[in-house]
Amino acid sequence: MFERLREDIQSVFHRDPAARNAFEVLTCYPGMHAIWLHRLSHYLWTLDWKWLARVVSNFGRWLTGIEIHPGATIGRRFFIDHGMGIVIGETAEIGDDVTLYQGVTLGGTSWNKGKRHPTLESGVVVGAGAKVLGPFTVGAGAKVGSNAVVTKAVPAGATVVGIPGRIIIKSDDDVEAKRKAIAEKLGFDAYGVSEDMPDPVARAIGQLLDHLQAVDARLEGMCGALNALGSDYCAKELPALHDEVFDCVKDGGETKAG
Ligand SMILES: CC(C)(COP(=O)(O)OP(=O)(O)OC[C@H]1O[C@@H](n2cnc3c(N)ncnc32)[C@H](O)[C@@H]1OP(=O)(O)O)[C@@H](O)C(=O)NCCC(=O)NCCS
Repeated sequence: MFERLREDIQSVFHRDPAARNAFEVLTCYPGMHAIWLHRLSHYLWTLDWKWLARVVSNFGRWLTGIEIHPGATIGRRFFIDHGMGIVIGETAEIGDDVTLYQGVTLGGTSWNKGKRHPTLESGVVVGAGAKVLGPFTVGAGAKVGSNAVVTKAVPAGATVVGIPGRIIIKSDDDVEAKRKAIAEKLGFDAYGVSEDMPDPVARAIGQLLDHLQAVDARLEGMCGALNALGSDYCAKELPALHDEVFDCVKDGGETKAG
């Protein structure tokens, strides 16, 4: 039990830069109090002491402003920051290392019995005020933006924002794939450096390419808008990049390395 308590407190230090010491976390974090009371109410629920479980859950709500149904299943290192106004429904399932901010609802959209609340896989972060409604899965490591309303499944690693929720970043893997594509297009692999071998120059070039890609996407959008207005400005070809420039860079690199 003390091991779990220690783990809970550590999870606060990892995710809230404002946390200063264990005593402060024990006494001043309503999210922690709500989780501990939920563990008790969930235990009573599994023993089929349903009324007592509801009483404990209601006491937790009264104390913290966080309403967690005793039937909800919650993994380890769950962190609720601020907490006030959170509602977690009966059939919600929450994996490990999940973070919720104030005002989040994990709710249902039907009055049918059975699974009607979402499943959040490990590492999901749900921003303040977001509503996740329905019996679908938010994949591991996904982020839900503050005030989003999500009613459909979210793939692992994706970021979803707005009403209705739309995916703005598919996953880190997609970002990596885009980087590879642009590096191949340019004939220069600035990303051929792994996390374990941080080369500051290659990293800086990598950042520039990321930025270039973002500017490219924005220009494409602007060209689309200009085309729609009947302009032919974007029909003009951009100057081409010539392979020999990159051959030169590659040769230079090899000479240096040699
Ligand atoms: C959604 C979120 C996780 C995205 O973070 P990120 O990956 O760093 O993405 P960025 O901040 O670069 O934003 C990417 C784009 O999404 C937009 N965006 C970010 N959050 C948004 C939100 N909640 N709603 C609508 N659009 C949002 C940004 O304006 C940006 O748009 P642009 O590309 O047109 O400029 C983050 O913004 C968020 O909402 N986190 C929740 C934090 C929270 O609730 N904190 C409470 C503390 S008390």
